[in-house]
Amino acid sequence: MESINVIDAIKGRSSTRKFLDKPVPKEIQEKILEAAAMTPSGANMQPWIVYAVSNKEMLTKIGDAIIAHIEAGGDVDQFIQYYPVNWINPYKKRRIVTGAGLYKLMGVDRHDDETRQQMWFDNYRWFGSQTVFFVFMEKELINGAQGPLIDSGAYMQNLMLAAEGYGLGSCPQGSTTEYGKIIARVLDVPENLALLYSVVIGYEDKEAKINTYQPARVPMNDTVTFVE
Ligand SMILES: Cc1cc2nc3c(=O)[nH]c(=O)nc-3n(C[C@H](O)[C@H](O)[C@H](O)COP(=O)(O)O)c2cc1C
Repeated sequence: MESINVIDAIKGRSSTRKFLDKPVPKEIQEKILEAAAMTPSGANMQPWIVYAVSNKEMLTKIGDAIIAHIEAGGDVDQFIQYYPVNWINPYKKRRIVTGAGLYKLMGVDRHDDETRQQMWFDNYRWFGSQTVFFVFMEKELINGAQGPLIDSGAYMQNLMLAAEGYGLGSCPQGSTTEYGKIIARVLDVPENLALLYSVVIGYEDKEAKINTYQPARVPMNDTVTFVE
C-alpha cells in the first residue's frame, strides 16, 4: 500500500476534479498528515496549521457561504494574494492554454460563462469529495516575510504525494485562498490564523472525463539554466 516509488508519485500525480462519494478513513488521513509533517521548513519552524474537515455539513456550509458571497457580487475576501496581480507572459499564456484545454475537453464553449462559473463552483463543492485539508498559518509569521509560504508550498506537495502514495487523488485549491476570510469565519478558527490554501483528497472517479486532463509542461530546458 505504501510502496510507490517517489518519481512515480511525482509523475503520476495530477489534479483530480471528480471524486467518488466515499469517505477517506481517518487512519489514512492521519498517515498522510504524518508524512506531510516531515516536510522541511526554515529553522524547522513547521508553520502549517491544518484543519482536516470531513464533516459534510461543515463542508457544505463553507461552500454555500463562498458561493452566496460570489453570487451576491462580493469581491475576494482573502488573507494572501495568491495569483499574480500583473499576468505577464509566458505565464499568462500558460494560464489561458491550461484553462482553455480543460474547457475544450469538457465540451464547454469559451463564451459559455455560466457553465464555466458552475465548473469553478465545483471547487466549493469539493469536487464531490468528503475530505478537505485547510492549511492555515499564524498571521505574524508572514508579517513582512515570505519564507513560511515557501515551507507551506512544500507541505502542500507532500500532502498530495502522500495521498498519491495511498492511492488517493487530490486537488490543490487557490480558489479557497481567495475566500480565506470566509472560510476562517465559518470554521471559527482563532483570529491569529490566516488561510493559505486547501487540498481536497479522496477516491478518484476513474470514469470521469475531467480526471483525464493532464496539462502539458514546458520542456525542462526552458526553465533551467545549467551552469557547468
Ligand atoms: C497553489 C495551487 C492552487 C491551485 N488552485 C486550483 C483551484 O483552485 N482549482 C483547481 O481546479 N485547480 C487548482 N490548481 C491546480 C492547477 O490548475 C494544476 O496543478 C495545474 O494546471 C497542473 O495540472 P496538474 O495538477 O493536473 O498536473 C492549483 C494548483 C496549485 C499548485
